[in-house]
Amino acid sequence: MFQQNEPVAPHLFVVMGGTGDLMRRKLLPGLFFLSSKGFLEKSVILGVARDTDLNDEGFRTWAREALTEQRFSAEELGPWCDCCLHYQAVGGGSDGFESLAKRIEDIERAHGLPGNRTFYLALPPNAFPPTIRHLGEAGLNRSRGWTRIVVEKPFGRDLRSARELNQLVHEHFEESQVYRIDHYLGKETVQNLLVFRLANQIFESLWNRDRVDSVQITVAEDLGVGSRGRYYEQAGAIRDMVQNHLTQLLTLVAMEVPVVFEADAIRNEKVKVLQAITTPRLEDVVFGQYVRGALNGQGVAGYREEDHVAPGSRAETYAALRLEVDNWRWQGVPFYVRTAKRLARKSTEIAVIFRRPPVCFFQEHDPCDVESNVLRITLQPDEGFSLSFEMKAPGDPFSIRTQQLDFDFKEAYDALPEAYETLILDILQGDQTLFVRSDEVEASWNLFSPLLEEDMPISFYEAGTWGPREADHLLEREGRKWLNG
Ligand code: BG6
Repeated sequence: MFQQNEPVAPHLFVVMGGTGDLMRRKLLPGLFFLSSKGFLEKSVILGVARDTDLNDEGFRTWAREALTEQRFSAEELGPWCDCCLHYQAVGGGSDGFESLAKRIEDIERAHGLPGNRTFYLALPPNAFPPTIRHLGEAGLNRSRGWTRIVVEKPFGRDLRSARELNQLVHEHFEESQVYRIDHYLGKETVQNLLVFRLANQIFESLWNRDRVDSVQITVAEDLGVGSRGRYYEQAGAIRDMVQNHLTQLLTLVAMEVPVVFEADAIRNEKVKVLQAITTPRLEDVVFGQYVRGALNGQGVAGYREEDHVAPGSRAETYAALRLEVDNWRWQGVPFYVRTAKRLARKSTEIAVIFRRPPVCFFQEHDPCDVESNVLRITLQPDEGFSLSFEMKAPGDPFSIRTQQLDFDFKEAYDALPEAYETLILDILQGDQTLFVRSDEVEASWNLFSPLLEEDMPISFYEAGTWGPREADHLLEREGRKWLNG
């Protein structure tokens, strides 16, 4: 996040799960982009996977195809794959890791690298513990230079497993070596939240219970679970999205101003927010699941009809929660968060809804129904900010209308960097600001684990709508409504 505009130290970037989907769709393009911008001088990538039939040459061909599929031309790629990519097959056992250690040394010697290493675990969650253990036992947790380990989400399935995983990580690595990744933190608008709040006095001075009525955080997806039914059956919306992405957004909105702009100072404030949130009461939570419906005029299947989903599945594809941050700044201000698959459209947004004026000044002319000012921070599909305000419509009769002040990132800047590109560069520059600390991940699980132990009722909603009615009641009972679209 505090990126310097200079190449990172020569290093070896090892991707465990080197032929997987994450590598293909996100890591390879991110690494290539960084390299083409001159950040990765003298850096080498080693893909590690189980496939014993693959060698360096086969891996380079696979990577070239993956990159061209993703919009890069052969001219743009040039000799990058041939010069910078290697492959090593490693099975599940520890002997594979000894060969890996030897291979790493050979590559470092051949390329004249000083021993700086990143191990990126782009693996299914059940492979995290054995991989971390094997890396440690093979002595790959330290080197002549620096060694960093990146762990993808989900970090644990609940509080207990997250603690166990943290313990295991700390048996082999120092916390300063660990980068728990949440790609939402790499999104440009999310980082901008900090600048927006802390570099503009007008907003920070309104950012509290005296001025804010409520906050809504929505991560709506129009896609269903697609080919990920097997994973989603084990996860559901709380594990997949709420415990990590939505919670991260909430902490950045609600945190106090850190004393200094530095990784641990910021992460300390985020943890304090989590500690101030009370575990939601069951009546403040709605779980839903999509049934057959229509999107853009096309019929789409219900969740239980998706591949690898049990016919009677109770996995929640929708979750809405009313949370309270019980501290001086936010006491009494509800934070409504929701996320779901197969809603009407993709939309990720934070809305800060301000209180209405205390006196109904225009009652003689119009019913006293002025709208609240709303600050909307949009992350997807079009990054930007918009502030609504009330104004008099020209002419008679006297009437008040809501208008918007908009800022659209795309109009102001060419292209925004991809989240993974930002985060990979941070890892290589040793900046942990946008990564989740061990106490933070545990504090977040601590909030949601009790819900996962409940047999929650599931409300069904038609695909292509804005979710179950019960979620509307969550706000209507307090005189509020969701801002949709
Ligand atoms: C992932 C979840 O972490 O985030 C997916 O596992 C979800 O289920 C995705 O679709 C959403 O990410 P984005 O960046 O498209 O909002």
